[in-house]
Amino acid sequence: MNSHSAAATHKSIPGPSVWQTPFCLSAFRNDPIGFLQDLHQRYGDTVRIPLGLPLLSVRHPDSVRYVLQEHHKNYDKGQDYERLEVVLGKGLLTANGAEWRRHRKLAQPAFHKQRLPGFASIMLRRTAQRMDDWHRHGSTMQLDIHAELMALTLEIVGESLFSSDLSSQTEEVGLSLGELLRLTNEYINALVPTPLWFPTPFTIKFRRELAVLDRVVKKLIEARMSPEGDTGSDLLGMLLSAHLHTEGSEREQPLSVEEIRDEVMTLLLAGHETTANALSFAFMLLTQHRDIADKLYAETISVLGNRAPTFEDLPQLRYAKQVAEEAMRLYPPVWAIGRRAIAQDVIDGHTIAPGTHILMSQFLVQRDARFFADPLRFDPERFAPDLASKRHHGAYFPFAAGPRQCIGMGFAIMELQLVLSALIQKVEITVLAPERIELEPLITLRPKHGMRAQVRFRQLS
Ligand code: HEM
Repeated sequence: MNSHSAAATHKSIPGPSVWQTPFCLSAFRNDPIGFLQDLHQRYGDTVRIPLGLPLLSVRHPDSVRYVLQEHHKNYDKGQDYERLEVVLGKGLLTANGAEWRRHRKLAQPAFHKQRLPGFASIMLRRTAQRMDDWHRHGSTMQLDIHAELMALTLEIVGESLFSSDLSSQTEEVGLSLGELLRLTNEYINALVPTPLWFPTPFTIKFRRELAVLDRVVKKLIEARMSPEGDTGSDLLGMLLSAHLHTEGSEREQPLSVEEIRDEVMTLLLAGHETTANALSFAFMLLTQHRDIADKLYAETISVLGNRAPTFEDLPQLRYAKQVAEEAMRLYPPVWAIGRRAIAQDVIDGHTIAPGTHILMSQFLVQRDARFFADPLRFDPERFAPDLASKRHHGAYFPFAAGPRQCIGMGFAIMELQLVLSALIQKVEITVLAPERIELEPLITLRPKHGMRAQVRFRQLS
């Protein structure tokens, strides 16, 4: 079939007509999750969406698995990711093909399982320090738990991957990042985005917020560029000492400062906000389900008593893992991902043309009653080890799947498990008015106005 007839077939996929593009653009901008939910309800599992580019949204786990795993070679990252390069450059998250493979191979050893015990001590020490800071304000206080967890996870990733202490910059990064995520989202979703060099109130603000993060990243790299060449063995050290073949070159060359900047920016951003969002939503759900919070507390006390957790306790802190997994089912920190077809293909019986974008929403698939009974109920028992194999393959993908699955998955799951257990053991966290927490689905899913919570230190028995 030639591309003309493929495009014609594409038109036969159910969905709103192209005349509804302006309406769809505005609905997608205002409430992307509600808009997608509504479309799938009306048109079924595979929907064509007129948003100014050839785009399908798929809701069936078989289609998700097909695109991400079984036929991943035919899919690269599409337009959204190209636009994301204005912030992340060509880092692991945005690169494609041979360039992505070289970078993934380079970064992978930094996440090797031998490194996990070292990361665990950093996670636990930083969590204990944060609780000490809270304790200075008394035994009961109110704070924005989302902002606190963003600061904590930034410190953890900064020390784990870059041996850098970012504790004095967490507030600055947190404020800029929130704003930058909103601006980047607007830039990605624009029909034709304004070039960033063109001065408008939007681009001026965008560049100002990006400059804050760039300064942090630059300082972090410069601090480690030693003339002696002793770069260290963490991820930053690996990037600084790496020599790679670039396309069209015979010799291996060191990474350029730009390439290192892009990778550091990617890991710093991808490596903390997602985890903070997962933890925040977990505390929101635990506030709404005291019986589950009590069960989690009982686990930490039976495993740990009053002593601090360690890496070796992880296998016993099983319920903490289940709570984190179930929280990410209902509130996936990355709520949707996209891919773009390289060649013509068939998805869910529909022929799609090369260049078609495929949207897959974790939020929608993971709340589908066909694959999760009583899907809106928060029930960590779904993740009991004996039930995992019974789940429909492809129905749960908070970290994506296939070769481009999150490189930090092991790191993140351990972090969620340890931080949850360490906090629950010492403090009771009650989110205020949890039913009124508004969701903000940007590139990630976050609480729109932060998350006020009461923190109360438990009495030691
Ligand atoms: C709960 C926490 C996390 C969630 C839910 C999450 C989710 C994801 C998802 C869905 C992707 C795939 C994106 C796509 O295909 O478009 C991804 C990729 C990625 N994540 Fe994570 N992530 C988390 C934590 C982390 C951490 C802790 C790090 C690093 C320390 C990290 C670094 C990355 C990188 C570098 C990629 C790109 C990988 C590649 O394409 O090779 N993430 N993550």
